[in-house]
Amino acid sequence: MLPGMANHKTVSRRAALGAVAGSVVALGCGGNQESSAKTPNGSGGGASTGGGGGSGGAAGSGGAAGSGGAAGSGGGLAECKAQGPTPGCKVTDDNILGPFYKADAPFRSDITEGSAGTALRVRGTVYGCDCQTPLAGAVVDVWQANDAGTYDNAGFVLRGRVKTDAQGRYEVTTILPGLYLNGSTYRPRHVHYKVSHAEGVSLTTQLYFEGDPWIASDAFVKPSLIRPLVESVGAGGKKQYDVTFDVVLTGS
Ligand SMILES: [Fe+2]
Repeated sequence: MLPGMANHKTVSRRAALGAVAGSVVALGCGGNQESSAKTPNGSGGGASTGGGGGSGGAAGSGGAAGSGGAAGSGGGLAECKAQGPTPGCKVTDDNILGPFYKADAPFRSDITEGSAGTALRVRGTVYGCDCQTPLAGAVVDVWQANDAGTYDNAGFVLRGRVKTDAQGRYEVTTILPGLYLNGSTYRPRHVHYKVSHAEGVSLTTQLYFEGDPWIASDAFVKPSLIRPLVESVGAGGKKQYDVTFDVVLTGS
């Protein structure tokens, strides 16, 4: 278990997400471009690229999360490729890449670079497609809009990559993403993900936040990608949010 937080409470949906919804203007953020990049089910977003064979490992045998399991060996990936997900295990849905991805983001857990906004800590575990085997060394590449709904396309502010640890865990320190226009409506707040593993599987997806009033009108959200925000008190007594987003990689 990673370091815990104090004073957790589930955030009021409107309080957390809706209060500033009408106050954010995202001129020049390219919302329409993201719309134009729409590909049904994210199939054009780089998800499910497949790849070379794995080295085997303890796929199918479990390897309980947090115990180390077969992490580091590729875990369930070889079996995933050969047999697909273990019955009853749902791999993480993919989602559109969008137009703002930049390769080669720096490896770092704090991607804020001093960005203004409400602190957000995102963490989770990456699993093989048995939903149990943690995958060490998976690369979690994240990018998002700033508090004003703008992506940094010149540099790497609010962009970064982290590798999962021996228990398959990752953690990213960031801010609550801003809203930006997509046509006549705002895209809900979201964090983009590309998760990959050296054994040749990858997933492009997005993380959304429960209670976001713009989810209902968004064409891209998949319900399985929505997670609750948890409010806590961070350093200096400042409010922060935490969210957990586990990822289950498919083998195809
Ligand atoms: Fe986006």
